[in-house]
Amino acid sequence: MKNQGIVDQIRKTFANNSRVHHDESKMPDWYVKKMKELGDKYRNIRWLPLDVPKIEFDDFDEFLKFWEDECIDVVRTQPCAAEPWDKDNHPLGKYSNYYKPQFKGLHFYTKNPDTFETDETGIFARKYLTHPMFKRIIEQLHEYLPFHIINHAKIWESVKAVYPHRDQTFFWNCPTEFRVMLNDENPTPTLYVADIEHGDINYIDLRALETNAFCWSNGSQIHGSDFLGSRKHLICIDGILHPKKLEDLIDRSVSKYKDKINYNLNI
Ligand SMILES: [Fe+2]
Repeated sequence: MKNQGIVDQIRKTFANNSRVHHDESKMPDWYVKKMKELGDKYRNIRWLPLDVPKIEFDDFDEFLKFWEDECIDVVRTQPCAAEPWDKDNHPLGKYSNYYKPQFKGLHFYTKNPDTFETDETGIFARKYLTHPMFKRIIEQLHEYLPFHIINHAKIWESVKAVYPHRDQTFFWNCPTEFRVMLNDENPTPTLYVADIEHGDINYIDLRALETNAFCWSNGSQIHGSDFLGSRKHLICIDGILHPKKLEDLIDRSVSKYKDKINYNLNI
């Protein structure tokens, strides 16, 4: 399988240490218990399309024009657990992601615009700018996705291959990463997840499905993306999950899609 070498190299560094982990002591006991239960229940999921309608702009060309004018290069602004080096001592020097962006990006929704500039999610350069064209998308995200509160919604477009990695989010074994494929001009899928324990790689193939929304677990999977020279625009959503809504959505999505996806899902 394409990328197997790099996936195996990277997943072994995660399988054998707990260096990168969310802080459960800051979460209520009932929530930790529930998310662990959901982790056991959904451990076999690699990626999963969601049983929700397609989330789309009324006028994609209008968005594309806005995007061309306003998106920024997403470059690293500070070290994190995955890459603990600052700008001057990063081993890749001028080729590090402090200088060479892997993505272009733009935030179009944030829970509290007044604190956007100072909140704590600034590992990468960010920009917040909304527009009436996003209104319907923002309503759909709130209506369809299992969040108690959505903190941020942003669009990222990869401009080169992205090595397999974990995001600095949550590490439950149930899905917590939610994405919407707004646009994909590639002839074949380029985004993949790989199981940290078992090493199997599964490309996220939405082509024959009724939805463009999907999820995976940032605890059991790493993810990466090939670059074939064509464009794709992904919405990334983060926030505080609502465990009951999460469980209901995953159950519905498993029943709808378990026989229509490109790997064997035994739940
Ligand atoms: Fe990522």
